[in-house]
Order: sequence, then structure tokens, then C-alpha cells
Amino acid sequence: MAKQGLQVAIDGPASAGKSTVAKIVAQRFHYIYCDTGAMYRAITWKALQAGADLDDEATIKQLLDQITIRFEPGTPTQKVFVDETEVTLAIRQPDVTNSVSQVSALPAIRAELTARQRQIADAGGIVMDGRDIGSTVLPHAEVKIFMVASVEERAQRRLKDNAAKGITTPLATLKHEIEERDRKDSTRKVSPLTQAADAVRLDTTSLSIEQVADRIAEIIKEKEMQQ
Ligand code: DC
Repeated sequence: MAKQGLQVAIDGPASAGKSTVAKIVAQRFHYIYCDTGAMYRAITWKALQAGADLDDEATIKQLLDQITIRFEPGTPTQKVFVDETEVTLAIRQPDVTNSVSQVSALPAIRAELTARQRQIADAGGIVMDGRDIGSTVLPHAEVKIFMVASVEERAQRRLKDNAAKGITTPLATLKHEIEERDRKDSTRKVSPLTQAADAVRLDTTSLSIEQVADRIAEIIKEKEMQQ
């Protein structure tokens, strides 16, 4: 199939602002936006619902094989469905957030979701955010961004996001959870969080969302001109 636009990979640690920025960039270029973290959250939600042991790779893989994970446009966030059940809010609750690193460390789950993500990105015109997009899922993506921000800044951002959703976890707990997730995501054996050698590193600590989106848009335009 002829590619309709570029593949844009945006990776980085939890709460670095990836999804907010990725959504804005996708809108500007009329690209599809795919939040791969939501896919890991969706299977984690399913595993918790089923009462599965989160280390039981075979059982969780079986559950994943039985479900579809689908996105629909929505404001302010895309809607996420597991089969016909909307899980947009459920997958952001603390039970899923605190278990998702364990499920996303399972090699069979990563292999299956990586295959689904490649299919979604195949035709191009996509902004995909996650932890391993530039390094593993789309190693040939024309644009690769690695977004970072300090733990303090990321905890503050999550506090704000949570408040909008009625979640009241204290700042110190959020900081601890972010550090813990960074550690687990960076040290897992399969596809750990790493910056691809050809990715552009963007420290967003003191930048606004619009400034980050503008910088990424410039990089995409430069690449588009080279195609
Ligand atoms: O971006 P997020 O916080 O919604 O991601 C949820 C979890 O999923 C996070 O702990 C790491 C994992 N993840 C992953 O391992 N690979 C991806 N491509 C995306 C997310």
C-alpha cells in the first residue's frame, strides 16, 4: 500500500507529555494518533477483570487473543474500547496504572501488541506514542522523538490531569509511582524504555505543550520535504 504520510514515533517515560503533544501534532497533519500505552492498559484492565495472575503469561495472552482494542475519536481524549465495552476512564484508574508495568513486561503480550501496532501504522500518516516505538515497533519511522522531563514536573502534570478526572492521589505518592514505573519500564528484559540512536531528544521540563508541538511539527515538515 502506498504510504499516506510519515510514521512519527514519540517515546519517553511516564507523564512526559507524550500523548497530549502527539494528539496535537496528529491533528495538525491530519495523521492518525495511536496511544500504545492505552493498549497495554486495556489488556491489563482485562486481566484484572478476569482475576488473572498478572505473572501468568499464557493466560493473559489467551485473554488478549480474545479481545479487540479499538480507538474512537473523542474530546478531550480518544475513547478506548475493549470489544464493545468503553474503558477510557477505567484504564486510567490507579489499579490499572500500578499493574500495567507487570503486564507490559510479558514477552508474549509485547509481541502481540507490537504486531497490532505495526498493522495500524502500516499505511503511514501516523503519530504513535509509547516506550519502544522508535526502537522496536517502527524502527524505520521517518521521525523519532524521545521526550523527557524531570520527575517533579511529571508528577505535577499528573496531579493536574488526575484532578480533572476526580482522582486525588497526593503529589509525593505520584512522584514515587512515576519513579517506580520509570525503573520497571527501563529495566525490563524485552524492549525496555530506551532512546533510539536516531531519535531527537526533547527535554520538555520548561517548555509549554504548544512549544513542544511546534518543534515536532518543524521536524515533520523538514522530513516531509525530503520525501
Ligand atoms: O504511556 P502510559 O503511561 O499510558 O503507558 C502505560 C504503561 O504501558 C507504561 O508503564 C509502560 C507500558 N508501555 C510499554 O511498555 N510500551 C509502550 N509502547 C507503551 C506503554
